[in-house]
Amino acid sequence: MTQNSTEHVLVTGGAGYIGSHTVVELIAAGHKITLVDSLERSEYRIIEGIESITNSKVEFHKIDCLDFSSLDDLFSKNKFTSVIHFAAYKSVNESVVNPIAYYKNNVGSLLVLLEVMKKHQVIDLIFSSSCTVYGQPDQVQVNELAPFKKPESPYGSTKQMCEKILEDAATENFRIVSLRYFNPIGAHPSTLIGELPIGIPNNLVPYVTQTAAGVREKLTVFGTDYNTPDGSCIRDFIHVSDVATAHVKAIGYLKCKTEKRIFEAFNLGTGVGVSVLELVKKFIEVTGVSLKYTLGPRRSGDVEKVFADPGKINTHFGWYTQYDLSQSLLHAWQWEKKLRGV
Ligand code: NAD
Ligand code: WQD
Repeated sequence: MTQNSTEHVLVTGGAGYIGSHTVVELIAAGHKITLVDSLERSEYRIIEGIESITNSKVEFHKIDCLDFSSLDDLFSKNKFTSVIHFAAYKSVNESVVNPIAYYKNNVGSLLVLLEVMKKHQVIDLIFSSSCTVYGQPDQVQVNELAPFKKPESPYGSTKQMCEKILEDAATENFRIVSLRYFNPIGAHPSTLIGELPIGIPNNLVPYVTQTAAGVREKLTVFGTDYNTPDGSCIRDFIHVSDVATAHVKAIGYLKCKTEKRIFEAFNLGTGVGVSVLELVKKFIEVTGVSLKYTLGPRRSGDVEKVFADPGKINTHFGWYTQYDLSQSLLHAWQWEKKLRGV
């Protein structure tokens, strides 16, 4: 791919699920990128996948974002125009068992990154936030004005803390966009990159695809007595490549701004609520595979129904989704088959 912009974007956690898809879109948009990842939660083959899709060599540095001196050195050798910070731990369950590691990695890496950025006067930052910051929101279709409620987990707490830190950091001449992802699913249509879940997945779609592939015996639908049309929870499932393109738009959004200090949060979702049972049935319909599932009790901490009001991001970024639920599930399944060599 040809590089036709003057942007040089540092992507932390760029070998991860959302980071890798974003790197693909950044390269497609003509941006120069540098990828940093500790590879603690990903593998080098994902970087090779990015290189195959984009037909270009990726500049990769195996660095832990808690390591100030390595990041400092990298910033000294490059003139980054912006940073996208994906690097973090993301498992709700793991954060309950090991909260200290979550605070250290998620909050600690952000603080180190901000210090290095400040030292090198790199001011534009896109941050990976989550709909989890809303806790149990009062509105089903939530917009960015909804207050942060009590976080459901230490993981959720780290995202709330990071947003607070960023809001305050902006007063020190940072320009920050925080993207609150809803439920990213699917994989790149090429099936060269996708999610690499560690252990037994907590998230619905990896559990569905692993069950369909015979890795798990059956899926349990957690709760069928919610106040929803079919009794199961409602979420906003969004294709990971749509999540990725929003980051390219976010870079462009900040570039067009003349203000020296910005902190803006945006919901990143489709605006469509889909129930767990609807998703399961859609998966069976679009893939044609059989899926063993059972109806089980509620999972503690689950929000009954929540989906994004994406009006702000649609208007300010001119960003809209390209993929629907069927395509997202098909791509998730194609990626699972690739992983299993089926
Ligand atoms: P992921 O685990 O696939 O990717 C994270 C990447 O960051 C991994 O490659 C990991 O090796 C790397 N990493 C972790 N800590 C690091 C550190 N200290 N230094 C360097 N690299 C480090 O996760 P993902 O799904 O791609 O999530 C990316 C971001 O989006 C995270 O901040 C996550 O909290 C956030 N998010 C994810 C979801 C989701 O459902 N996937 C939803 C909302 C928000
Ligand atoms: C979706 C629905 C489950 C598994 C989490 C984080 C959130 C964000 C996205 C990072 C729920 C049901 C699930 C299963 C099921 N991540 N389910 N059987 O909980 O909406 O959000 O991931 O920021 O912070 O909390 O996503 O995929 O875990 O669950 O019935 O085996 O699927 O109960 O209703 P969730 P999820």
